[in-house]
Amino acid sequence: MKSEKDLDFKVILIGYCYFMILNYWTLYININIFLKGGCVNSSLNELESFLDANSMIKKIKGTNDIVENTYIWEWVEDKFKEVAKRFGFSEIRTPIFEATELFNRGVGKETDIVQKEMYTFEDKGGRSITLRPEGTAPVMRAFVEHSLASKGLPQKFFYLGPMFRYERPQAGRLRQFHQYGIELIGSSLPVADAYTILVAVEILKAVGLENFKLKINSTGCQKCRAGYKKALKEYYRPLLNNLCDDCKRRYDRNVLRLLDCKRDAEYAKSAPNILDYLCDDCKAHFNELKSLLDTLNIEYEVDPSIVRGLDYYTRTVFEIKYPSLGAQDAIIGGGRYDNLIEELGGAPTPSVGFAVGMERIMLALTSEGKLPSPRGVDLYVVTVGDEQRADALKISRELSKYMRVDIDLMGRKLKAQFSNASRENARYVLVIGEEEVKSGLYTLKRMSDRTQMKLSIDEVVMEIKGKRRLESFEQENTTFGS
Ligand code: HAM
Repeated sequence: MKSEKDLDFKVILIGYCYFMILNYWTLYININIFLKGGCVNSSLNELESFLDANSMIKKIKGTNDIVENTYIWEWVEDKFKEVAKRFGFSEIRTPIFEATELFNRGVGKETDIVQKEMYTFEDKGGRSITLRPEGTAPVMRAFVEHSLASKGLPQKFFYLGPMFRYERPQAGRLRQFHQYGIELIGSSLPVADAYTILVAVEILKAVGLENFKLKINSTGCQKCRAGYKKALKEYYRPLLNNLCDDCKRRYDRNVLRLLDCKRDAEYAKSAPNILDYLCDDCKAHFNELKSLLDTLNIEYEVDPSIVRGLDYYTRTVFEIKYPSLGAQDAIIGGGRYDNLIEELGGAPTPSVGFAVGMERIMLALTSEGKLPSPRGVDLYVVTVGDEQRADALKISRELSKYMRVDIDLMGRKLKAQFSNASRENARYVLVIGEEEVKSGLYTLKRMSDRTQMKLSIDEVVMEIKGKRRLESFEQENTTFGS
């Protein structure tokens, strides 16, 4: 009986506490509104905006924060840059926003990108500005604007950065995404196409990816494409009523795009094949590309449905697919664009390039289990007492010239400093106590086997640097390799 009464009392007490908390909270909001010069009853809007002003602000739909995986991005970017440099490409950086006209003219007014996906706004000077949806048109704009052709051809650039497209977000499809791309400007030869595809394959291999499939096609030149478009229109005309709304719209504006529609893929299977319509020059170009890829032992499939969603392509187009990614399986897209520079006001300059989606690379690495492990600091400096903090700071400055160093900044006790060193995957811990400062000999602990040694600062550098060379080589082969 007594315990039942106790229980009732507890329930009443908890209820009362909740009631009081609720009251205090309401009072707190009211006081805040009064202090801001508002009136409680007449101003529900103010209450709303007060609550809004104090609620958490979240990232925009279709964007991502790269928080804990930054080291993976850095690792992939370094690998890609290294490959590009090995093949003689140098970096180019263009602005994130450009005149809207650049994409209207470059990417094409009738493309989905320009019609539906661009982030376009008017700036304070009344100019129409667009956040770049892709990197090729901006690089070509810079090429023309800086008269880079005068420095000799070919010119080879790579770039890396955010792009913006207002698409329906899903796995592997974002509104702000990141591309790494290369552009080889100035050569009309099939060897330039093969070279570009070779770099695309090499960057994937450099991060250890294997399960990808290269698909190539030729979209011909303006001359042979006209005949093909006519045949395509004839084929699709009787089917128009059955096509999806996008395809109906594309029929008049850009009939080639009907071929890569996912919803109407069945019809595309029996559509005329562009390869049957290529002129002799385009046919010879495509055949030579195929034989160069054969020489390089690069596996490919000829897929006439690859037409790409940007209008600037001529002749070679290609995609590298990663089938396990599902709907967004194209990790790389590229091709030849022989008329783009001329359309942007430059002299005719045939060119070829590709871009890879960084977010899709991350998904592919995850699905192949190829993500690298985070690399910890080389050395974590701990102090026995507060008195050694200044010495620890000085020693860290010295050692940071040779290695990655970290130090306790929270005034933790010795044991907690060691725990923190382990959390940061420190390879070594350097202990600084009164005796160490006096003698100039410090206790260095190797965390992998818990070995302790007494060393001078110079010897600490030798121990860590000497070993590091060997271990970083081993790490590259075991952690990052295949
Ligand atoms: P793209 O096919 O539009 O080509 O894009 C290239 C790659 O960027 C795609 O294969 C995909 O990995 C990634 N990507 C595209 N849109 C998104 C998105 N919304 N979210 C995540 N990733 C995406 C171009 O952009 C051409 N500029 C490529 C090029 C360079 N052609 C010649 N040179």
